[in-house]
Amino acid sequence: MESSMVIEVILFGFFMTCAYAGGAADVVLSCTLVEEGVGMGEGSALSRSPATLVFRDIEVGPDESLEMLTPFIPPSVPDPDAILFESKVSSPEIPNADVLLHADCNELEVMCEISRYSPQDSRGDSEPVYFMVSIHVKEVDFSTSLILQTLPLERDQSTLTQSRLGLPLSQTGTLLTDIVFLVFSNVKSVSTPLREDILLDCGFKQQESLPMEEVAVEWRQQYKGKGRRVLSMSTRPADLEGSTVEHNQRGDSSVDATRVVEGNASMTLSKVKVMDEGTYICTVKVGLFHAQQVIQLQVTQPPHVSISNKLVPKKSTQTISCHCVKYYPLDAEMEWLSLSPTDTEPTVLVDHISLSSHRQHSDGTYSLSSHYTVPPSVAPGTKITCHVSHPALDAPLSVSVVVESPKAESYWWVLGFLIITVLFFYQVMR
Ligand SMILES: *[C@@H]1O[C@H](CO)[C@@H](O)[C@H](O)[C@H]1NC(C)=O
Repeated sequence: MESSMVIEVILFGFFMTCAYAGGAADVVLSCTLVEEGVGMGEGSALSRSPATLVFRDIEVGPDESLEMLTPFIPPSVPDPDAILFESKVSSPEIPNADVLLHADCNELEVMCEISRYSPQDSRGDSEPVYFMVSIHVKEVDFSTSLILQTLPLERDQSTLTQSRLGLPLSQTGTLLTDIVFLVFSNVKSVSTPLREDILLDCGFKQQESLPMEEVAVEWRQQYKGKGRRVLSMSTRPADLEGSTVEHNQRGDSSVDATRVVEGNASMTLSKVKVMDEGTYICTVKVGLFHAQQVIQLQVTQPPHVSISNKLVPKKSTQTISCHCVKYYPLDAEMEWLSLSPTDTEPTVLVDHISLSSHRQHSDGTYSLSSHYTVPPSVAPGTKITCHVSHPALDAPLSVSVVVESPKAESYWWVLGFLIITVLFFYQVMR
């Protein structure tokens, strides 16, 4: 049992190649079929089995090198135990599906999970049967949830039945399906400074769009275990005026109804605040189907950095303060460096430094100050630098002060003293 699983997994690894046939290519993905409480007899435990998903006819760009791609060849002997989904990708198209074509060659990890899906008014076990497929490629922000619908097959002609799912297989041993609905996002995670307007990307496609069919979009936010509905709206392609929008808790958010009917359910948040940070869930419901996408929003506000004194006269002890103001998130690091005129490399200061505690402002941002007490031993001309790193900064920020030489009059005093000494010796020598 276990060894056969291993062989299967290895085979699937080989299967994941790109395949080409006349202007369009086939993509073979290794997926996991997740079922509730099947086998094992453990009630609600989830069972996972390897499955394969073949997308037929993914469109290939004209500049594509086609030698690498071979068409998908089904197993010569149909295997009723193999779970092999086959789907045409022409209508609706999967946006950016060419990412999947090259995922293997670019060593990107494709996450693919398949589970049963029950449409709103499903009448039990009758056909067609639906499956929900979630595909993610993290590195390139590819993410889509799609609903597959099984295609009708003649059951009689000694066709095989898939042993696990009890569904009729095609002549080549595949479960023939169509994509009927999909929700996708091209930008899975966004980070923004405060007070900007930001678009959270979410789109959908369906096999057929009916003018009077209601399209409902809901956006929810999840942050630190708490959820809130940000906005929900519904519209009909043929009746944009009749659209309804309901805001909850967060105003200043919008979804454009004219874009929604074209398949763009993206939400704009105006004047982003710290409390907008979190995970957003975009749910689109059309007819019998609904699917979701998850998008992360991060607030990163760079600090404003300033230093208290511009010039530090060399007197007894002096304290220099470096202020790091109104940043988010909390992870700011402050460091003091010293570069004396005789040094080539600055040294990191560790003594005589004290940090204030973090202050949080009403807008959720933080401030922090660091104080350095300049010891009297520091040579004039030494440059003292406050160095701040923060996730919102591309490069660390630094501000510096220079320890001044002793005041000019003391030079005159030293010079005068020298002249008198020289004159004195001159007299004595004579
Ligand atoms: C939705 O529209 C916005 C604004 O035109 C665009 O930036 C975004 O890429 C679109 N998203 C989808 C999924 O079509």
